[in-house]
Amino acid sequence: MTVSVRRATDADFDAVMRHDERGFGNSHTPGWVEGMRRLFDMDRFLLGEVDGELAGIAGSVPFPMGVPGGQVDVEGVTWVSVLPTHRRRGVLRALMHAQLRGFAESGVTVAALMASQSGIYGRFGYGAATECRDVRIECRAATFRPEVPDPGGVRMVEADEPGIREVQRRWAAATPAGVLRHDVVWDLFDADPPEIRGGGSILFRLLHADGYASYRMDHARRTLVVRDFFAVTDEAHVALWRVLLGNDLVEGVETAECPLGDPLPFLLTDPRQVRTTRLRDGVWARLLDPAAALAARRYAVDVDLVLDIHDPVLPGPTRVHLTGGPDGATCAPTTDQPDASLGSSALGALYLGGQRAAPLARARLIEASPQVVRHIDAAFPADRSPVHGTDF
Ligand SMILES: CC(C)(COP(=O)(O)OP(=O)(O)OC[C@H]1O[C@@H](n2cnc3c(N)ncnc32)[C@H](O)[C@@H]1OP(=O)(O)O)[C@@H](O)C(=O)NCCC(=O)NCCS
Repeated sequence: MTVSVRRATDADFDAVMRHDERGFGNSHTPGWVEGMRRLFDMDRFLLGEVDGELAGIAGSVPFPMGVPGGQVDVEGVTWVSVLPTHRRRGVLRALMHAQLRGFAESGVTVAALMASQSGIYGRFGYGAATECRDVRIECRAATFRPEVPDPGGVRMVEADEPGIREVQRRWAAATPAGVLRHDVVWDLFDADPPEIRGGGSILFRLLHADGYASYRMDHARRTLVVRDFFAVTDEAHVALWRVLLGNDLVEGVETAECPLGDPLPFLLTDPRQVRTTRLRDGVWARLLDPAAALAARRYAVDVDLVLDIHDPVLPGPTRVHLTGGPDGATCAPTTDQPDASLGSSALGALYLGGQRAAPLARARLIEASPQVVRHIDAAFPADRSPVHGTDF
């Protein structure tokens, strides 16, 4: 079967919408379609055709994403699907290879995606860089430690409060993997049509000078479901959680916005009350230009490493010399002897500071001495657990 790949034009928009419904087995509302029309640049969509018929699509949406100590412009790969009638015949492979070549040619530094299934994207050089967990907290058993402050300062606001998007901007710049939410996505959430409420109430919004949270009440389950949680400071974090957990009308609070390493369990007398109900991979990162990407972030301690990077799709290998520390970094091609050898997928996994090198080395995904692995693990982790905050 021959797959030909071409770039979409605006004239393909309706076909892409229909394809996505068929690929994922879902249905789009008119409001959603109009939102996508505003959000998507069709030039960023590739179409895989078989015998002249559309068989698969792969798109991307650009946005700034936080990295440890900085922010980079990433291409967020999205709307990837192949028709149920054309699967396992290489359509995705043709699309992914063409997309990665296109990214490299147009100077993209980092691509990122969220995977419906975790076995797909490693072969294309993406690495699972963050872990997300859903948690449930039983309100009556969740007591704050007596010395935890109660800073207050939280107001209930409406969607048009200008401070909401400003707080999200600051949060995204300060949080590794934090996605700067596009205005179109805000508008779609703010419209809050009944079909996205999952049986819950309308959305309620809490704003603090340095934080924002939104939630619904699911009265049938006596549960408060957190939709957004963006705390720029620790004070905002505790202030918002005190309001969420203090709601009298529910038995439990649920959120998918509690990264591993979040301080919440340690604010409570009984940390086990923050019960993980699901753990999954979050953002998959893929460095197109490793030297530029590694120089764009900062490191917890001084770092000096020569890395051999093996790319499964793009020509290589790439050997780079990374030097830097907490105040900045430089990274450039070199012919020096490498300290570590790793694939693009392992490098992507390490990039946002949420994974450690030691288990990757034990799984033979990084070849390096124990001393070098310890050096990577001292330098790469982020102060804050990476979390994206907006699906893409
Ligand atoms: C996932 C999907 C895009 C794969 O498309 P496809 O055209 O069947 O994939 P290909 O035939 O090009 O396969 C390429 C490689 O990926 C592997 N692969 C494909 N789907 C896979 C899956 N679900 N899990 C693990 N590996 C998978 C293939 O075995 C092949 O491996 P190889 O390189 O070792 O030969 C397609 O099944 C689909 O549209 N699924 C529903 C929507 C979806 O989940 N999209 C992904 C959103 S993140």
